[in-house]
Amino acid sequence: MKISVIGCGYLGAVHAATLASMGHTVVGIDVDPGKVEQLARGAAPFHEPGLDELLRDGRQTGRLTFSTSAAAAKDAQVHFLCVGTPQDKTSDAADLTFLVSATEALLPHLAAGAVVVGKSTVPVGTVQMLRGALAPRPDVLLAWNPEFLRQGTAVKDSLVPDRLVYGVDGGRAAAFHSGTGAPLGETAALDTVYEPLLRAGIPRLVCNFATAELIKSAANAYLATKISFINAVSELCDASGADVAELSEAMGMDPRIGGRYLHAGLGFGGGCLPKDIRSFRAQAADLGVTAVADWMRLVDSVNLGQRERTVGLAAELCGGSVAGRSITVLGASFKPDTDDIRDSPALDVADRLAAAGAHVTVTDPKAVNHAWRRYPRLRFEAAAGRALEGAELVLLLTEWDEYRRLSPEAAGAAVRRRVVLDARNVLDAAEWQAHGWVVRGLGTRGADVPAVERALPRV
Ligand code: UDX
Repeated sequence: MKISVIGCGYLGAVHAATLASMGHTVVGIDVDPGKVEQLARGAAPFHEPGLDELLRDGRQTGRLTFSTSAAAAKDAQVHFLCVGTPQDKTSDAADLTFLVSATEALLPHLAAGAVVVGKSTVPVGTVQMLRGALAPRPDVLLAWNPEFLRQGTAVKDSLVPDRLVYGVDGGRAAAFHSGTGAPLGETAALDTVYEPLLRAGIPRLVCNFATAELIKSAANAYLATKISFINAVSELCDASGADVAELSEAMGMDPRIGGRYLHAGLGFGGGCLPKDIRSFRAQAADLGVTAVADWMRLVDSVNLGQRERTVGLAAELCGGSVAGRSITVLGASFKPDTDDIRDSPALDVADRLAAAGAHVTVTDPKAVNHAWRRYPRLRFEAAAGRALEGAELVLLLTEWDEYRRLSPEAAGAAVRRRVVLDARNVLDAAEWQAHGWVVRGLGTRGADVPAVERALPRV
């Protein structure tokens, strides 16, 4: 098929490249000439494992091109809208400006019978609004096909997704399910796009627009809920002497619960979960569903509270105040295997420590180059070994493999004081303690356990 992908960020660039790898002819369109030039050269503008290879393949086969002009979409049969829907500058709601302008730019170039497919995460009701924009073209079909990919595993998530969701007009969805009426053009088009995935047995669900919009928001809200739940419990663990890592491992063994997204620590960040739960809260409040709105507010505040808690623990480990202390932060990206620093919990904590007077050095395998511009108060150092030199406190804030595997011996030789706050709960505390380190985590305060056990009657 001939396909256009509008918006070549974390979602669109990966979507365009994976569609080309499935055999389609794809043009990626973005308003940023720098990004388009880089993608056209076969180089990803951000770190995403496997993406460079797909871009190079697409360039070699000639199936993947990029352009800054919406006119480049004119021959495509299917157009995917993959533009960003960031948080509004003055409220919790999603800003749909890019989505509206992308649709308007596309309008004059749509061929008869073309299918426009939205992939961006949007509040419920957005598709109805876009239908208004597409009203001058009644021959054009509209569908919503939310994307569930995670940064760091985006290529794999796109090629082997858990499910495909097709949102279509309510009446047409009902006709599809009852088997009455003509086959749906938009469903047939999407089936052709995803033919290799469907052949591999990936399930696909056809539903109405509102359901498709809410599936994505509700899925992200649930993942955020799981993380904030275990983080709230981790505080209870600290208060009682329990160990949250053992607790969550045991909880996760129950298949009704499952262990994923149940890892306690510094909490979630990035360009998606935080803004998506805020948008979900704003949607629920607008629709008068206070239970969901209150729920999301709590999930958000527990999440942000973890950052506060980490800053407080750092001060405690420095004897009450971080002022004047040399602190090394391991990790700047919002999670491992990406160089994305949007709403990074690690940089937020590092910056607060610097604001409190600490001398903070941040290291990261991929994100140092663009992070230093945004955080002038922090010192950045690409090599972990150099960053650790002279540290009085080490904070592990993003669990890159490199930091999980750090040698306590070598790290110990570099620092001034062997004290580590493992805010992602990934280090082998016993091994680090054996090398003379004081190790603290969030919800895993090993050192206090005997004292608490003495205070509690044994069963
Ligand atoms: C998320 C959703 O997973 C994805 O389906 C959606 O399409 C976009 O938003 P992503 O932002 O790439 O994807 O990140 P994800 O891997 O879900 O992690 C989000 C955050 O949660 C990270 O900051 C991570 O460190 C944190 N996290 C994750 C935890 O703190 N604990 C966990 O157990 C899991």
